[in-house]
Amino acid sequence: MKMTTVAFQEQKGKRPLVMVTAYDYPTARTAEEAGVDAVLVGDSLGMAVLGYDSTLPVTMEDMIHHSKAVRRGLSRALMVVDMPFMSYQVGVEDALRNAGRLVQEGGADAVKLEGGEPVVPQIRALVRSGIPVMGHLGLTPQSVHQLGGYKVQGRSPDAAARIVEDARRLEEAGCFSLVLECVPQSVAAEVRDAVSVPVIGIGAGVACDGQVLVIHDLLGWTYGKPPRFVKQYANFAEWAAQAVRTYAEEVREGRFPTVLHTYQDEKKETVS
Ligand code: KIV
Repeated sequence: MKMTTVAFQEQKGKRPLVMVTAYDYPTARTAEEAGVDAVLVGDSLGMAVLGYDSTLPVTMEDMIHHSKAVRRGLSRALMVVDMPFMSYQVGVEDALRNAGRLVQEGGADAVKLEGGEPVVPQIRALVRSGIPVMGHLGLTPQSVHQLGGYKVQGRSPDAAARIVEDARRLEEAGCFSLVLECVPQSVAAEVRDAVSVPVIGIGAGVACDGQVLVIHDLLGWTYGKPPRFVKQYANFAEWAAQAVRTYAEEVREGRFPTVLHTYQDEKKETVS
């Protein structure tokens, strides 16, 4: 059965929710076949797939292009699409126009945007227009320059209280769920208890209502040291390089293609 934002929201307190990112058709198919509840077309696209060193260069056109591919790979999982940097911060009109494009052109079931109190007017307007919104608090990567780097947030009592207050405001503005990134577990537990919508953690410990990971991180398809909160369930980078090395070796040594991979003149064959 198709996971809707309403069904997603109803799972709070019943069972942990599972979300992963996807950026293209095969990663969407993998997530769908693994039975995840939700897929996020994250602006982590910038780092995971496009080779940027932050999410800031990611554009609306990038998000729409990749969302369309993910849409084609999903039938059951909820599809949430990130609003990229500067697609909603300037004001309500921009937020409406751009979220509308992510739904209409990209096929999003819901959008996600970063920030607390300053983006409440945008969230209210989107929800009033019928576009479900997922909030994002704690470490908000689009504010990396303001935060002074990718750091754990909410460590002081004041900072923790601000995150909890922002979570209440986002719920009140109509968010159906929140992502909470890189905060101590005690802060995550407070946020979880402060709101009635699911809190999906990344680097926020086990107290959340669900978890999200970047799919390339969990598959080990990254280069360089992953953050401590990541668990790598496979080593795709090494596995893929090994497969390509073997192919190269076989081509150079004349061992590929063999007769099995070759069409013969006398037979009428199809390509497959
Ligand atoms: O862009 C993204 O992948 C995200 C997750 C880290 C939650 O926002």
